[in-house]
Amino acid sequence: GVSRDLAGRRVLVTAGPTVEPIDPVRYISNHSSGKTGYAIARAAARRGADVTLVSGPTALAAPEGVRTVHVKTACDMLAAAEEAFPAADVAVFSAAVADMRPKEPAARKLKKGEPGADLGTIELVENPDILASLGAAKRDGQVVVGFAAETENVVANARKKLATKRADLIVGNLVGEGRAFGTDDNEVWFVTADDVDELPLMSKERLADAILDRAVQFFG
Ligand code: PMT
Repeated sequence: GVSRDLAGRRVLVTAGPTVEPIDPVRYISNHSSGKTGYAIARAAARRGADVTLVSGPTALAAPEGVRTVHVKTACDMLAAAEEAFPAADVAVFSAAVADMRPKEPAARKLKKGEPGADLGTIELVENPDILASLGAAKRDGQVVVGFAAETENVVANARKKLATKRADLIVGNLVGEGRAFGTDDNEVWFVTADDVDELPLMSKERLADAILDRAVQFFG
């Protein structure tokens, strides 16, 4: 039968990309499809959890039996995640949050050759780090899972993120050249304070359950 090991637990999941407007028609974003985060939200719901999914724009249908909050920008995602985090027993930050956003999105469509609308230069400012900010607010008993999307040195970079973002588990993965973003399968490393576990290539559905299996171990 289906394991209901998350019955009575609240799970927060962030998923998908964020989009950061340049002007009313253009934006900065990335290739996250949301498949990973949605699979985690569905798996947590199937295992009995009360799930809040905070999702950037994706082409996916909102999972059944999950509270889905749709957001666009990193700042909106932070606000929605901050609201759900205090009650969460497990928080999984799988979203590919844009690190930077245009400083002042133009109110009108930027046009070539217009004074003050230099299409070659967009001033950027840093976005809030949602995982780091909520990791810093973590209380006893909460399990925080982050990701590390890397083009090299996955484990070393995941270890750094584990410490700086105060996560209990970092799911490290190689990205780029058809890897991880938008695919149906992924190959990851689980990095915790005492362990590194290299997992075989598997579907994002199976990965979702593997992440939740590892997360519940922190409940003891
Ligand atoms: O959505 P899919 O198509 O299924 O693709 C899956 C994935 C590649 C998006 C996923 O496996 C993944 O790696 N997600 C994290 C992407 C990312 O932004 O990684 P990062 O190493 O830049 O960030 C590290 C961690 O901090 C992540 O948990 C991220 O959610 C979080 N973060 C980063 C920046 C920021 N401003 N706020 C954050 O919360």
